[in-house]
Amino acid sequence: MTEEAPNVQKAGKIGFFDSGLGGLTILKVVAKELPQYDYVYYGDTANLPLGDKTEEEIYQLTKAGVEALFKKDCLLVVIACNTASAETLRRLQDGFLKDNYPDRRILGVVIPTVEALINSDSTSTLLIATKRTVESGKYALELQNRSPRKIKLYSVPTPELVPLIESGDRAEALSKAIVTIEEEKGSNQFDTVILGCTHYTKLKDGLRAHFNSSLKILSQDEIIPNKLVNYLERHPELESHFSQGSTRTIHLTLHRPDYDNALKELLGGVII
Ligand code: DGL
Repeated sequence: MTEEAPNVQKAGKIGFFDSGLGGLTILKVVAKELPQYDYVYYGDTANLPLGDKTEEEIYQLTKAGVEALFKKDCLLVVIACNTASAETLRRLQDGFLKDNYPDRRILGVVIPTVEALINSDSTSTLLIATKRTVESGKYALELQNRSPRKIKLYSVPTPELVPLIESGDRAEALSKAIVTIEEEKGSNQFDTVILGCTHYTKLKDGLRAHFNSSLKILSQDEIIPNKLVNYLERHPELESHFSQGSTRTIHLTLHRPDYDNALKELLGGVII
């Protein structure tokens, strides 16, 4: 018996959704690994940060972003945002996708990160993430459901980091992240820190330089690209419908002049 090919267009793109520019750090590495595909990025900068909003607001904003990407011919959308993945992925897949776009796919970033943690040698981990990601309990739940061994998970919300990173104040964001982690180290033992927000990938070098080998830093730009490559290898029925024009299109719902430098740094050398 052969699997029936889904009824999808032949010119499909890969979409990335985030509330701001954080998801671009993931797209940058994905596009390096898989340069042949056409990528569309949707950054809902007008509604940033998502991490302080209600679950329903996050759902509606994420659904709008995903739908905009589907209308731009994306067959697959990666929700490159932990807050949106934690709060909306299951609901989007089970309702919105099945009812409206049964041949498209939506992937998130929480499960691949939990899998990377399970495959590491960590026994005790600190998650730093937005308020909603922490409150969702999604990391703890997926870890409990998937891990064959006990990994202790602590989590602490760091809501001040996204606005600082988004406005380009990386030094201030880094020093706040270091203070938070040091404080947690005062009361809990952990060997690994999950940067559970795609914006925080920008802090990974500074955190590694500060903590040296005393802490392992899990950063999603080093996790998601390989997982996506692997997913596409396992899903040729989807991959075979992707167009291969090597284009990158960026849509921001609100553009600020200071974003230009960030976009240049993140996308240097690729076509916008
Ligand atoms: N990059 C998003 C995440 O991974 C930031 C969410 C926000 O806008 O607060 O959670």
